[in-house]
Amino acid sequence: MEKLNTKVAIIGSGPAGLLLGQLLYKAGIDHIIIEQRSAEYVSSRIRAGILEQVSVDLLKEAGVDQNLQKKGLPHSGIEILTNGVKQRIDLSKLTNGKQVTVYGQTEVTKDLMQAREQANLLSFYEANDVKVTDFYVQPKITFEHQGHSYQIECDFIAGCDGFHGVCRASVPKDKIKTFEKVYPFGWLGVLADVPPVADELIYVQSERGFALCSMRSETRSRYYLQVPITDHVDQWSDERFWEELKHRLDDESREKLVTGPSIEKSIAPLRSFVTEPMRFGKLFLAGDAAHIVPPTGAKGLNLAASDIAYLSSALIQYYHKGSEQGIEEYSQKCLQRVWKAERFSWWMTHLLHRFDTEDEFDQKIKQAELNYVLGSFAGQTTLAENYVGLPYELSPITGMRLSN
Ligand code: APR
Ligand code: PHB
Repeated sequence: MEKLNTKVAIIGSGPAGLLLGQLLYKAGIDHIIIEQRSAEYVSSRIRAGILEQVSVDLLKEAGVDQNLQKKGLPHSGIEILTNGVKQRIDLSKLTNGKQVTVYGQTEVTKDLMQAREQANLLSFYEANDVKVTDFYVQPKITFEHQGHSYQIECDFIAGCDGFHGVCRASVPKDKIKTFEKVYPFGWLGVLADVPPVADELIYVQSERGFALCSMRSETRSRYYLQVPITDHVDQWSDERFWEELKHRLDDESREKLVTGPSIEKSIAPLRSFVTEPMRFGKLFLAGDAAHIVPPTGAKGLNLAASDIAYLSSALIQYYHKGSEQGIEEYSQKCLQRVWKAERFSWWMTHLLHRFDTEDEFDQKIKQAELNYVLGSFAGQTTLAENYVGLPYELSPITGMRLSN
């Protein structure tokens, strides 16, 4: 067995693990990434595509924002379509000039992987049988890679290994509590090389269910439909997808919609999930390993980024200043922001989707709530300030990087 030592072992090479690696590298902190899938698989997964300003700032700080600055599309508003009428939410006006950036998570991942390759940093892709042990004392990772056995001893383990990862599963049951809500529908997503139907995203609430018109660029669109969770992607030909989307749109958008062959099509389940706490001795959970949000509020990647902002600060303080304060505060700080994003994502999901369990009264109440939100300055502001992203909380004790 080959034995290695490092300061921080990062499990998982998704956006959370890669961003942490890049920030630690910038701070001169030795680390290794261990990932079970291949680099090709990781860099080609299609995921969501909205970045909050704080996430853009963090990518800039990590020195990986060159493509983002060139190709990211700044958006200062979104449209909500209900009862056949679109209403614009002016995000910037309602939040003192803040905006979001449309830039695919796939691109974020590629940018981070490229930066890692250029800096010649150590990653093990296609690692098998990854095990994390002794994280209350002296953390160890063991795994198999290309026929060799490895053991890494480290100061800390960053569990950035997603919802199905090994880190959360390794925590003793009596030390962890999880909170979960599973939704009775999924999102059928289609990626197509056609110009977007509108300049801004359209969130659609309709009698036939939710739909979302999003984009990746001026020539590539991303559309979603709420479908029963029991549906299989084979049941959805491109023709059927475009037909159903048209049914859920307003007249103007229906006419403008350009259809074309899908280059990706998949159904994703919707889930709300939180783990408490997010630190177990010297093991930290971050990103999807610790929490999942339904995609309606576009918060998944942004929450992963805010966890990493807190975690990188905590580790930098530990190694550069000898302070454990950030480490002690990590879980509590993250969870405050996580629960607010969970609430917002849950709320957006309820407001815009059709639930089979709703009776007519529930539907009327929901429509009234939506009408209230859209018709009130306070209501619109609530939506806008959550959508553009809540500020990172400032720690008076540690002075952790918590800019807004
Ligand atoms: N050992 C090593 N790696 C693992 C293991 C394991 N046992 N289990 C999972 N992984 C890897 C996965 O293959 C994946 O590449 O961990 C990585 C986790 O990456 P993501 O699932 O992308 O999670 P995260 O980095 O937290 O990113 C969160 O992704 O799902 C979206 O909405 C979510 O946008 C959010 C973002
Ligand atoms: C996407 O572009 O994939 C996207 C955008 C906004 C969301 C979810 C997904 O709320």
